[in-house]
Amino acid sequence: MLATAAWKQAGRRSLTDAAKAVTATQTRAMHDLTMRKKTGQTMVKYGRGGRSSTNGHIATVFGCTGFLGRYVVSKLAKQGTQVVVAYRDPDEARHLKVTGDLGQITPLEFDLRNKDQLMECVRHSDIVYNLIGRDYETKNFTFENVHVDGSRALAEACAEADVARFVQVSALNASEDSTSKFLRTKALGEKAVREVLPDATIVRPGTMWGHEDRFLNRIGAGDGWQYWINEGQTKIRPVAATDVAQALEVMLTAESTMGKTYELYGPKEYKISDIYELAREIILKPLPIRPLPTSVARLGATLLDKLPYNQMISPDLIERMTLDDKPTPGALTFADLYIEPTVLEAVAIQFLRRFRSNAVFDLPFEKGEGKIEKGVYHIID
Ligand SMILES: NC(=O)c1ccc[n+]([C@@H]2O[C@H](COP(=O)([O-])OP(=O)(O)OC[C@H]3O[C@@H](n4cnc5c(N)ncnc54)[C@H](OP(=O)(O)O)[C@@H]3O)[C@@H](O)[C@H]2O)c1
Repeated sequence: MLATAAWKQAGRRSLTDAAKAVTATQTRAMHDLTMRKKTGQTMVKYGRGGRSSTNGHIATVFGCTGFLGRYVVSKLAKQGTQVVVAYRDPDEARHLKVTGDLGQITPLEFDLRNKDQLMECVRHSDIVYNLIGRDYETKNFTFENVHVDGSRALAEACAEADVARFVQVSALNASEDSTSKFLRTKALGEKAVREVLPDATIVRPGTMWGHEDRFLNRIGAGDGWQYWINEGQTKIRPVAATDVAQALEVMLTAESTMGKTYELYGPKEYKISDIYELAREIILKPLPIRPLPTSVARLGATLLDKLPYNQMISPDLIERMTLDDKPTPGALTFADLYIEPTVLEAVAIQFLRRFRSNAVFDLPFEKGEGKIEKGVYHIID
């Protein structure tokens, strides 16, 4: 069957040509073999590369059901990686099934406190990514439970299962001295992972933007963020989620990243007020902004946090909104992975256009003051 198909493909020259074509696709070369330095595990590539082939790697992604997770799973699966997607709620992982070819995506249920389930999720893999994180505490999970105990449990499972690589996603500004509990526990999580796996790779992304983010979408929709904390003067370096996912994809094979920490932030620094200005210019409508003293915001968030349902706003989030992004001088970053991070202004319209009104939906992005007259937007010079 194969030879006949190849004969047709080879322009029906001769059956010998067809046989050669078949042999050519089945030949293995040294570059099709990769070996994990730490475990000596070998992996063999099959096929011509890409989604419908296999690169021999098996990756487990914890936290795959979140914003960044979908891009990481998609990028890994696109190059023929078999991906174990570890989920808590099957509905949250359903969209990931189609990111890879048939049979390449394996969903497995897990509970961060159930060691047997963690072992089951990691035991076949040669790399494990931990993207688990939460912006607020819940009655079931504190920041320590998620960022420190959870990370340590995953690292221990990987050590026991002899997994060659471990990539831990932390956060820019993570520090044991931070005034934010989220950032303190992120730093303690890094430490816990390194105690168990000194050669783990640590990734610290800045605030991420993308289609499903909790940054541009909140500004565009005007929900929650219409109150300026710190008078909009907090300086941040937002980064594209797809760029961070690309960095994590590079780490799949780049064993030179073992034991290193990468800080992944955008190429430009903005004040929060600059981002509002950009959003206003793109969306072409005024964004209601009310400056709120930080102490009042903290008090409000503390009261809201006491309500019996899970809150998306917490006093700790308010605290983080007052902290400038401070990359560590000399830290490894995108440049060390040969990735050029995307500039927010260059592509922001793709993410913010949906907040425009119908009257101005198709207009190109022009900077400057403007007003709408008879349904048409005019720039005022
Ligand atoms: N987004 C940002 O701007 C930003 C900035 C800096 C660092 N980070 C870090 O980057 C990572 C990915 O960010 P993201 O925006 O994709 O996060 P996200 O959308 O909030 O997703 C978080 C993921 O963690 C899982 N998770 C949370 N608590 C868990 C628990 N107790 N047990 C098991 N799983 C749990 C969630 O699973 P469920 O779906 O089951 O809840 C989800 O898959 C996180 O570690 C985050 O802290 C994010």
